[in-house]
Amino acid sequence: MISALVTASKFFALLSSFVTIGSLLALAFLVLDKKGRLSTSGLKIRSIVSVSALFWFFSSLLNILFTLSNILDQPLSAILDPTVLRSFLFQISLGQYLFFQTLIALFVAISSRVITSSGYTAILLLISLIAVSAPVFQSHSASSGSHALAIGSLFIHVIALSFWVGGVIALALLNEADRKVSLPRFSEIALWAAIAVVISGVLNASARLNFAAAWSTSYAYVVILKVVITIVLLFFGYKHRNYLAAKPSVNWGAMTRLISVEAGIMIFVTALGSWLSSNQPPPRGGEEPFNAALAVAGIKMPDAPTFKRILFAYDPDILMIGLLILAVALYIQGVVVLTRRGDKWPIGRTISFALGISAIDFATSGGLGVYAHFAFSWHMVAHMVLGMIAPIGIVLGAPITLALRTLPQSRDGEELGIRGLLISALHSRYSRIITNPVVALAIFDGSLFALYFTSLFGGMMQSHQGHLFMNIHFILAGILFFHVIVGVDPNPRKVPHLVRIVILFAAMSIHAFFSVALMSTTTLIDGGYFKSLQRPWALDLLANQQAGGAIGWAMGEIPILIALVATFIQWMRDDSHEAKRIDRNTERMAALGQPDELAQYNLYLNSLDKKDRETRQ
Ligand code: HEM
Repeated sequence: MISALVTASKFFALLSSFVTIGSLLALAFLVLDKKGRLSTSGLKIRSIVSVSALFWFFSSLLNILFTLSNILDQPLSAILDPTVLRSFLFQISLGQYLFFQTLIALFVAISSRVITSSGYTAILLLISLIAVSAPVFQSHSASSGSHALAIGSLFIHVIALSFWVGGVIALALLNEADRKVSLPRFSEIALWAAIAVVISGVLNASARLNFAAAWSTSYAYVVILKVVITIVLLFFGYKHRNYLAAKPSVNWGAMTRLISVEAGIMIFVTALGSWLSSNQPPPRGGEEPFNAALAVAGIKMPDAPTFKRILFAYDPDILMIGLLILAVALYIQGVVVLTRRGDKWPIGRTISFALGISAIDFATSGGLGVYAHFAFSWHMVAHMVLGMIAPIGIVLGAPITLALRTLPQSRDGEELGIRGLLISALHSRYSRIITNPVVALAIFDGSLFALYFTSLFGGMMQSHQGHLFMNIHFILAGILFFHVIVGVDPNPRKVPHLVRIVILFAAMSIHAFFSVALMSTTTLIDGGYFKSLQRPWALDLLANQQAGGAIGWAMGEIPILIALVATFIQWMRDDSHEAKRIDRNTERMAALGQPDELAQYNLYLNSLDKKDRETRQ
């Protein structure tokens, strides 16, 4: 009985979170806004958000109680004891994640009542996505054999479902005018989300199930039923695209009926998914005997590193791969849009972006990423690649410029739209603060000390999400720093070349200081993480940690030196461009028989001086 209540509350929590996210998506990106403010119909969608988020809050709360009652095999009255509840919510990871999600649902329910701009709606959308995916890290997928594959694929499954299922239900709830405006754009998003749902669902099923041994269990039957219904849903999606392609004579009546049926089927499949996630899959069989490395790092202990192993080992970090695929797909889409328009995009930028992405993949899923889990020295090499080498490739790929040139323009001349949102985010106060070179340097180098000289590093290495968060932080901090120093994308503030050079020298010195401090450590800074892996090679952990400090120094200074040279070159080029521009202007003015720029400026100063004297007389 109680397990049925767990499934039911999970289903309502998931469904209401999908509706919340779908409606926020509609509000932020699909329906028309008025110069960044919500329109009158937008205000009605806002009420859908707050009602569904309130449902999300209550069903998550019930899910916490039923889950705890199920785990402890105690009646609800027993688990309502404050001490039992408190220890579940604050000390057990599953409880912490569920509680986090519940609090965010309440926050979204309250704050959505007062939002008036599409920018803040987009921020609420992001927060809701984090909340809906948080419990995935503690779901039973997390304890199955292929740990990283199971978590990563379920994470992508849930995010993609939020867009696809949530978007379709939100469309069904919109008024006709808003639905007509939203559909073409949603159709593009839905295609990507549906592909992600199918791939992640299949990957997750393959990580969880040994079909040869378990195909006749109810778990496998439900998976098969989901696959069949998903094929029907994909057919519906195909019909949508066909209807839309029949512009201008789109059959809106048929389209609306199709959306309602599709939403109904999706709700049913969501119920199946909730059942799957609340029931243990049959054992895969042939499970490996206990392995410390697998239990702690989620990857089997590799043999001692060799050049060949570092180069060719591969253990897919599905979450990171999902993010990289998304980034590459968006970049390619941008280049295709430009090329179709007949515009040119320098090939060097595309190559640079591709190299940056490949470096990230190598340092997360490739051999470097694998060994980074097992030895501090390799972790440091991966850190340098993620924080200092890959970001240079990414910023020289000019992704923001590409986005600004290709994102859709305002649809009615009045809406801010996606491109407008990006521009206002770039010009925002927040953006001006973080692109201040001193702030960028503080984030870039300050995080080294915050991570390695506190207990943070040990804590983050212990968990998959901590490791992922750390890697993403390295990449983003590096992108921010190198964007300010050598970036080709527009920056909200112009940083003089001299300041850039000073900042680079400062980064170099701080980096050297950090590395020397690390090389002189006499205790381990990993909170016992590397010891717990029981690695049979590189047995002196302290020597390996000190070697990590030396590697960090050597590898870290090279990209900074390259950036220094690049900044000098940019500076000289800018100066010679400016000199040429003044020369050209002087010649043009001389040809027209008029004074050149400098002479004009002097005339202007003389006129000011004359006026000044006249007023004093
Ligand atoms: C090829 C198609 C699909 C496959 C193979 C598939 C497979 C899976 C698997 C294996 C899980 C993991 C369950 C667990 O944790 O044990 C899952 C979760 C789930 N699936 Fe699917 N799925 C597919 C499509 C869909 C579709 C179309 C929907 C909804 C419209 C859906 C909704 C869900 C939901 C709601 C969950 C639970 C997520 C959670 O734990 O938070 N799935 N799916």
